[in-house]
Amino acid sequence: MSNKQLAIVILSAGEGTRMKSAKPKVMHELAGLPLLGHVLATASSLDAQHVIPVIRHKKELLAEYIQSAFPHAVIAEQDDIPGTGRAVECGLFSLPSDFEGTVVVTSGDVPLLDTATLTALLEAHQDGNFAASVLTTIVDDATGYGRIIRNDSGDFVQIIEHRDATPEQLEICEVNAGVYVFDAALLRASLSKIGSHNAQGEKYLTDVAAELLVQGHGVQALAIEDNWLVAGINDRVQLAELAAELNFRICEAWQRAGVTILDPASTWIDVNVQLGQDVTVLPGTFLKGSTVIGEGATVGPDVTLIDSEVGAGASVLKSHVLGSKIGAGASVGPFAYLRPGTDLGADGKIGTFVETKNAKIGAGSKVPHLSYVGDATIGEESNIGAGTIFANYDGVNKHKSTIGSHVRTGSHNVMVAPITIGDGAYTAAGTVVRKDVASGDLAMNVAPQRNIADWVISKRPGTNAADAAQKAKN
Ligand code: UD1
Ligand code: CA
Repeated sequence: MSNKQLAIVILSAGEGTRMKSAKPKVMHELAGLPLLGHVLATASSLDAQHVIPVIRHKKELLAEYIQSAFPHAVIAEQDDIPGTGRAVECGLFSLPSDFEGTVVVTSGDVPLLDTATLTALLEAHQDGNFAASVLTTIVDDATGYGRIIRNDSGDFVQIIEHRDATPEQLEICEVNAGVYVFDAALLRASLSKIGSHNAQGEKYLTDVAAELLVQGHGVQALAIEDNWLVAGINDRVQLAELAAELNFRICEAWQRAGVTILDPASTWIDVNVQLGQDVTVLPGTFLKGSTVIGEGATVGPDVTLIDSEVGAGASVLKSHVLGSKIGAGASVGPFAYLRPGTDLGADGKIGTFVETKNAKIGAGSKVPHLSYVGDATIGEESNIGAGTIFANYDGVNKHKSTIGSHVRTGSHNVMVAPITIGDGAYTAAGTVVRKDVASGDLAMNVAPQRNIADWVISKRPGTNAADAAQKAKN
């Protein structure tokens, strides 16, 4: 490509009324990123010198997101003159006044547009020395779109908005995708000339193309075949359709890279998730945020992993996992809830009906059944008995428990933090551990058991229990 300067203007100032949402349209999520995040990510991959999102509606919210996720972007604000043409004009005000180069215009609500399509459009634009290049696509239902008008030789003539079109023009199914490349200086000059004499009383960006032609410059309209790449989102029905399509594409890419996905329709994978070779993903699984899964691991069915790491060969079954790390070869679930700060070592186990939080559980250690482990460090090869509660909260402060390696705790223990249990120590079933336990000691504080002879027969006469007891005695 030529070494001309490149700027990308991203239109995001509209209200998005059809979403019927308190949230700006472009902040609605698709595969783990706001719509605008997808567009900004693509824009960033083009190596443009200037990335300029144009905002207006709910601008504080949008600006906050843009500044944190894409700090290199330069935010422009649209004033109260409406229309896509005005939005671009406002975006251009953010460019250095001597900027001479190429301007790509795209839209914050067209999330699947990819780098390859933009690069191809840019190349065709520069190779043909055009003043403007318009991306188009052929659709079955063109309702709402601007129609592409061509002359008898098939050359581009103009774009007519749906609401300004004649019945004849409405028959045209080649539509404006809302993605353009312009020569910066010519774009500036034309925008200053176009008015708002149309059905919506707006300054249309689409009028620039015709204006440039009238001035004798070259304008081309390039059709692409994959409609999804330029599909816009105006309401939540389209949001769901696009989410399903993008998810299908993400699943397919992972399948081609060596991941088994049994049922892509019930598997949802965010764009930034990373999967190793021979990972198996079973139905009902959500892989979200920055989740990374190592080679040969199995996740699902019915697993949600958010910003979590699963080591090679590990298995996670019917569980909810957030901000946690699961070591290689470890096993989790079914029915486990791993909260942030859980770090399960290699070959460790967090079993059934177990909740963990801020818990470092060493290699080979197991918490197999019905337990809560919070604010604890457990060494290696230890076993936590069934039904154990780490009582980490005294009503005011949280306290920490430290359990050594090769420890065996009995069933139904309460670890009253702060507490330390040394390496190789044991605790008896039913122990409420209130004092530290030294290495190798056995802790027990169970009261001796007392059986009151024939209590049931004398105190509950006539019950099935009493009858059964009497029968057993005879
Ligand atoms: C626009 C095009 C239409 C095309 C369609 C493709 C115009 C006049 N029409 O129509 O030819 O087929 O996109 O999806 O351009 N925006 C602003 N400021 C505004 C108005 C809109 O920033 O004052 C932004 C919106 O937030 C949106 C984009 O521009 O991201 C497109 O606006 P929208 O109102 O959705 O235009 P369409 O009617 O879809
Ligand atoms: Ca639109």
